[in-house]
Amino acid sequence: MAINKQQVRTALTHVLHPEMNKDLVTLDMVEDLVVQDSFITFTIDLPEKNTELEHRLKEKCKEAIHKYVDQDAVLDINTAVNISKFRNNEDKGEFPGQGHRQQKNKQEEDEEILSGVKNIIAVASGKGGVGKSTVAVNLACGLARTGAKVGLLDTDIYGPSIPTMLDTHERPNITTDKKLIPMQKYGIRFLSMGLLVDPDQAMIWRGPMVTSAVKQFMQEVEWGELDYLVLDLPPGTGDIQLTLVQTVPLTGAVIVSTPQDVALDDARKGVAMFKKVNVPVLGMVENMAYFIPDDMPDKKYYIFGKHGARNLADKIGTNFLGEIPLEQKVRESGDEGKPIVLGDMDTKSAQAFVELSNNVIQQLAIRNQQEAPTEKIDIKIKP
Ligand SMILES: Nc1ncnc2c1ncn2[C@@H]1O[C@H](COP(=O)(O)OP(=O)(O)O)[C@@H](O)[C@H]1O
Ligand SMILES: [Mg+2]
Repeated sequence: MAINKQQVRTALTHVLHPEMNKDLVTLDMVEDLVVQDSFITFTIDLPEKNTELEHRLKEKCKEAIHKYVDQDAVLDINTAVNISKFRNNEDKGEFPGQGHRQQKNKQEEDEEILSGVKNIIAVASGKGGVGKSTVAVNLACGLARTGAKVGLLDTDIYGPSIPTMLDTHERPNITTDKKLIPMQKYGIRFLSMGLLVDPDQAMIWRGPMVTSAVKQFMQEVEWGELDYLVLDLPPGTGDIQLTLVQTVPLTGAVIVSTPQDVALDDARKGVAMFKKVNVPVLGMVENMAYFIPDDMPDKKYYIFGKHGARNLADKIGTNFLGEIPLEQKVRESGDEGKPIVLGDMDTKSAQAFVELSNNVIQQLAIRNQQEAPTEKIDIKIKP
């Protein structure tokens, strides 16, 4: 029989905090619980570092789950020091009771975690293969060209391509307090699921595991001070995307599409998804807008149709951020791990990516002046 979250929570009510004399669930110490078949992972939040206690609680949790839920369950129990979560209850000499934690505290917590990041931009597409990662990586490097501090997070767990596009395949290091240190290349900081998880393994992950992993990426990484954090989202507008965009306080979204009708239909869904959850859409990018042959750089062949994304942007009242030509050099630079925007400025594509970056900066400035920061909605993921 499949294990469910409720069973795990119930088992954890048998684990008492030795000093508080209450159980971990009542003390609201269990976070990010994910169950996948017989694999169970969660984090025990603690108000302060206490290695001995962490060890003891982990052991007790294991015992309780093996006894009350499934003796063959495979466990990955993490601990985290979460000062802000418990701070409000210090004077009262107790941890908060379950369910009493206010939404506000949770938001403050997240603000604190990403407090050094000024703008979070999601690069999304309805369809896969339209050049989302190519746009994300060139946008990140294009923003960095202006002297800004930029981070890039590849959340596409099923098809991470940023390691190839930045020619980096080593595992990231970890700080003494167990935070991941982003990799650095071409002046940007970046991380990819592909550097941490074996893609074959990741293929079997379901939505909640992906969301939980991405959440950890946001929270347990030393991003430091950033002007822009660019997120390469997984393609599509399903549950994973919807949960992701609501878990992170996004400043705005950039939607990538090719000019083809099949891609445009999905791009429209993408725009609708962001609007539904009140994330401003900064605009649309038309990738592979026209083909430029290497030997005839002045030619333009509209092989996927002309101005499809530009017209759609007009029609649905969204900004048009620019068109990127289909050029062999874009593909080659992606495969070689050096984004075209950092290469030959004589190419149409490099110029197009610079223009795109400038338009995104401009739209962000307008958005930040006109609207309040996006509020994060913390959805509890159901089993
Ligand atoms: N404008 C372009 N010109 C040439 N090749 C491109 C262009 N955009 C993307 N590609 C290539 O198409 C493939 C898919 O692009 P990618 O960015 O990985 O798409 P996605 O992230 O949407 O799946 C890659 O091999 C990439 O190099
Ligand atoms: Mg991709």
